[in-house]
Amino acid sequence: MSSPHARCKPSDGLIRRARSKRTIPAPEVVVSRAAAKQSPRPYRAEIASELLSSQWPFLGARPASQIGNPLAFGMHTTSDFPALAITRHPLIQHKLTILRDRSTPTKIFKELVDEIAMLMAYETTSDLPLEPTPVETPLEPASGWRVSGKKMTLVPILRAGLGMVEGILRLVPSARVGHIGLYRNHETLEPVDYYFKVPGDASERQFFVLDPMLATGGSAAVAVASLKRAGATDIRFMCLVAAPEGVRRLTAAHPDIKIYCASLDRELNEQGYILPGLGDAGDRLFGTR
Ligand code: PRP
Ligand code: URA
Repeated sequence: MSSPHARCKPSDGLIRRARSKRTIPAPEVVVSRAAAKQSPRPYRAEIASELLSSQWPFLGARPASQIGNPLAFGMHTTSDFPALAITRHPLIQHKLTILRDRSTPTKIFKELVDEIAMLMAYETTSDLPLEPTPVETPLEPASGWRVSGKKMTLVPILRAGLGMVEGILRLVPSARVGHIGLYRNHETLEPVDYYFKVPGDASERQFFVLDPMLATGGSAAVAVASLKRAGATDIRFMCLVAAPEGVRRLTAAHPDIKIYCASLDRELNEQGYILPGLGDAGDRLFGTR
């Protein structure tokens, strides 16, 4: 009869004993065979996916890993929008629902945007390159890892993108912050730009453009074009709620851009608001309604 336990070794393989400096095999970690076979995450994600797809047609997404999309670990994508990765993390979905609630007050709204952005950043940075680095523990020299590659720069689209900055900076305190000022003309729905400031060495940086809402996609497309004019070549767009119209427009204008969101909603209404959406993100964030 086979043992109910699976034996796994830490990937490191070997450890060093501090005092003797003698190399010894790493201890085996015993885990239950059932646990080794079955991680709860895909199971929960699948249920969430089913529930959501029964509500909104565009939410019938599959795990990115299942359809060979290398966008991000733990995120989902759809065959309609291969450049889009949708996070299904239960905490993010829970918080997003409170964010949508019309009775959520400004203070809580602000805190939730901050928390969701931080949680999303954990996922959207999961493919950052690492390089080995030596470290001195209190016991002995060891080797560890540090994030390598291009320097990260956050670029909130004013105003509402500002609400996403602090949460991400808590995870990546060394990131720089640029700003792009845009607002939508209420009649034409086209963006009007009024401010642009990013670090000078744009070609050496990885940019994360931040805006809670991707509606018609006009603001995002103009923001990305401005960054490209400044020399940027590595750009990702992070939003909380996206409309299919916006994803289509941004992808058509900039097929090289990866887009991350917490929800792909149903559609836009005649005024260019996302349905079901969460209303006017800037007004709800800053209490200006
Ligand atoms: C909102 C939102 C996006 C834009 C999205 O900003 O924060 O920037 O609309 O719409 P689009 O995809 O159709 O361009 P808004 O223009 O209301 O400005 P604000 O953040 O200053 O309120
Ligand atoms: N901008 C917002 O703030 N909300 C929307 O639904 C669309 C654009």
